[in-house]
Formats: sequence, C-alpha cells, structure tokens
Amino acid sequence: MCKRYLPVGVFDSGVGGISVLKTCADVLPYENFIYFGDTKNSPYGNLNEQKITELTFEAVGRLILSGVKAVVVACNTATATAINALRNKHKINIIGIEPAIKPACLYTPEGKILVMLTNAASTQPKFKSLVENCGVDKVSLLPLKDLAKLIENNIGNFSSLKSYIFEILYPYKNSEIKAVVLGCTHYLFVKDIIAEFFNGIRIFDGNMGVAQNLKNTLIRNNLINNSEGLGSIEFFSSEQTYEAVYKKLWQSIINKNN
Ligand code: DGL
Repeated sequence: MCKRYLPVGVFDSGVGGISVLKTCADVLPYENFIYFGDTKNSPYGNLNEQKITELTFEAVGRLILSGVKAVVVACNTATATAINALRNKHKINIIGIEPAIKPACLYTPEGKILVMLTNAASTQPKFKSLVENCGVDKVSLLPLKDLAKLIENNIGNFSSLKSYIFEILYPYKNSEIKAVVLGCTHYLFVKDIIAEFFNGIRIFDGNMGVAQNLKNTLIRNNLINNSEGLGSIEFFSSEQTYEAVYKKLWQSIINKNN
C-alpha cells in the first residue's frame, strides 16, 4: 500500500490525547488515525522518568508495529520525558506536544500566567527551559497529582469535578494571573470549569500547534493522504474495557461540535 494512505498513530497515557486527536482530525479530515491510550498505567504524571520512558517506548512501539506513517505523542508528560530518546530510536516522524507558554506570554506582556501540568512534566529540563525563556517570575506553576486520574475516572461526568478544581485554584483568586496554560492534555476536558473560575480568562493549549506540526510534517515528507472522503478513527487501550469509553467520549465531542 502507498505509504500516504497509512494511518497516523496518536498516543496518550489515557483519554487526554483524544482532545488532541480531535484537533488533528479537524485539520486533516482525510487522514486515518489509530488512537492508543495507556489507561491501565495512567496517570504517568506520578511515575518516575525511567518508568514513563519505558511505557512511552512500549506504546509508540506498538503503534509503529501496527503500521502507522507518523506518531503524535499527545501527552505533555511523555513528550517532555521521552521524545528525544524516541526520535533517536525510531526513523518515523514523531510529533510531540508542549505547553503553549510562549503564546500565553506574548498575549499578556504585563500579566502573569498560570501553568497547570503533571508533577513529572514540571521537573523535566525540556519544560524548565520553556519557562526560563518566558521569564521565571512571569510563570506560576501548578503541578497536580490527582487531576488527570480524576478526569480519567469521571468520563461523561466532568462537571462533577467543579468543586475540586475550584478548590485547587482558590489560591489564585484575585491574583495577577491573566492567562492559563493547560500543560496536560487531560485538562482540556475541564477547560470550561477553569475558565469559569477565572471569569472567562484566556486559556491556552498546545493542540493546534500539534495539528499544524503534523500537517506540515506530512506535507514535507510527501505523506499527506490525498484520497477524498473522511478518514477513519480507531481506538485502542491497554485497558480493554476503555476502548468503548474512548469511543463514547469521541462521539460526545463530535456531537457537541455539531
Ligand atoms: N495527558 C498527560 C499529559 O498531557 C498526562 C496525564 C497523566 O498523568 O497520565 O501530560
């Protein structure tokens, strides 16, 4: 089969990457996608670097074996921890996701920005250098231990997390925060709750950056699927019962946007 008709693999520790998948499918509607979520081992954000690297290699290896033409690592934690090692090992194009700190800083030259992310991502040099480039004093970091898992456990009922989220954000009430950066793809599913807490503040995520990067990479490598007709999307999980859960969540995202 001509390489350009092969699917794109998208990977996250769990459901978070489905928000990235949506943006990628919007930007590249003719592409076929295979999604793999490692729900069985999530959250990655509380694991050590070696374990995150090991799991990421396993998941990406699995996608490559299934015959994808490119891989999107739709997980900030896995990207910050393992993307360099992944690219050294595999020849295939691998696209990662990074918190949109730079656009948020440019948006508010005077105000501060709040970056919400996992514990593991917050300690990675790749992430620290993003913060340093923006100015350490300008960025407030909020590493969270439980939010990704709570999102994973409350699919279909994200609004139940409102009081928990309001509580963790309480210290930032009436602060100088003028923008929020979502540094974990799971948090996209509670974006509205975060926006409500901050009275409609601007919230940044890395999803469009990833989708554009994927598109440019496919064009550059002559891998764009130019067949007409919508692409297919398949869902796989290390926790088999979650495959139906991912599909249901996907359907609800599609319905919400129609
Ligand atoms: N969705 C992942 C991210 O973007 C992390 C969630 C987890 O801790 O597994 O960082």
